[in-house]
Amino acid sequence: MANKITAAEVMKLVRKNIIDMKPYSSARDEFKGEAEIFLDANENPYPSGYNRYPDPLQWKVKEKLATLKNVEPEQIFLGNGSDEAIDLIIRAFCEPYKNSILITDPTYGMYAVCAEVNAAPLIKVALTPDFDLDLDGLMAAITNDTSVIFFCSPNNPTGNLLSHDKILTVLERFQGIVVIDEAYIDFTNTESFTRLISTYPNLIVLQTFSKAWGLAGLRLGMAFSSKEVINVLNKIKYPYNVNIQTQEIALNALLNTTKKENSVEEIIAQRSALAKELVKLPITEHVYPSDANFLLVKVKDAPGTYRYLMDRKIIVRDRSKVTLCKNCIRITIGTPQENKNLIAVLKNL
Ligand SMILES: Cc1ncc(COP(=O)(O)O)c(C=O)c1O
Repeated sequence: MANKITAAEVMKLVRKNIIDMKPYSSARDEFKGEAEIFLDANENPYPSGYNRYPDPLQWKVKEKLATLKNVEPEQIFLGNGSDEAIDLIIRAFCEPYKNSILITDPTYGMYAVCAEVNAAPLIKVALTPDFDLDLDGLMAAITNDTSVIFFCSPNNPTGNLLSHDKILTVLERFQGIVVIDEAYIDFTNTESFTRLISTYPNLIVLQTFSKAWGLAGLRLGMAFSSKEVINVLNKIKYPYNVNIQTQEIALNALLNTTKKENSVEEIIAQRSALAKELVKLPITEHVYPSDANFLLVKVKDAPGTYRYLMDRKIIVRDRSKVTLCKNCIRITIGTPQENKNLIAVLKNL
């Protein structure tokens, strides 16, 4: 396998029709200065709080985020959840029926769904039994037409971080895009790969406001990469993909990060407390270590445990059909009271 890919080579991976296309130019794209009377966008002039279109590139949010994440605002893409970024990355870099994406198995389900939607062939490489990357298997599975690899670290549903050094090796050697989905990064003490976006032009890091920030209902996801890659994603996104209210609420959250930091601290403390209680239960075979806001737990009978809890109005995720997760359930960390109720109910099983 060849050496590290250059920025110019990364741009050659973009689908030709996307390079050639002229993007939609909105009224807000064309006029950027100060004005008093806006008669350019066919908006309704009567104020409702939302009668004007939002900033298509969400600069105020990006400026705050850039400071927090130590990147340039132009190195950030914001979308309708990180799910939008996942879809756009595949759309930008995978010629339908030709360029494959490679994912680990098990991992977050949307990579495979977006691959199917975009007719991108899917290559799955199983994780090792201790849920780490099988580097040799992965490098061997890459074909000449593989254009995107998705890593999820900490991984969903296994909860662990993938080996940092193995990811670095892939970044060095793979001649395509490497996406690292860090949806759960705030629940670990590990440094984010965002610090390497200026070193590796093929790196895209995904993060989200849905987990640590406690704003899943807002639908706001982030992608961090080179300015060139971010420009490609911006070129093909819907013009106003992040609404005014989402931008305002995200900005407020970024101006006061204490709430987020406190909830992360509480969730991490509850993760240890819940793990300790789960280990004591006779139904528990193993509680896997977690760097995320959930625990993967091997039990004697996962489908039975899932149904038992559901009948008592407690919903967890039965992951028993997922590769390497036989008889596993995935439990999101709740409030102290919710976790206590869960344990009390499981003690009666
Ligand atoms: C690994 C991973 N990435 C992304 C997401 C979805 O993020 P968003 O809500 O920003 O679309 C999830 C949601 O569970 C996830 O587990």
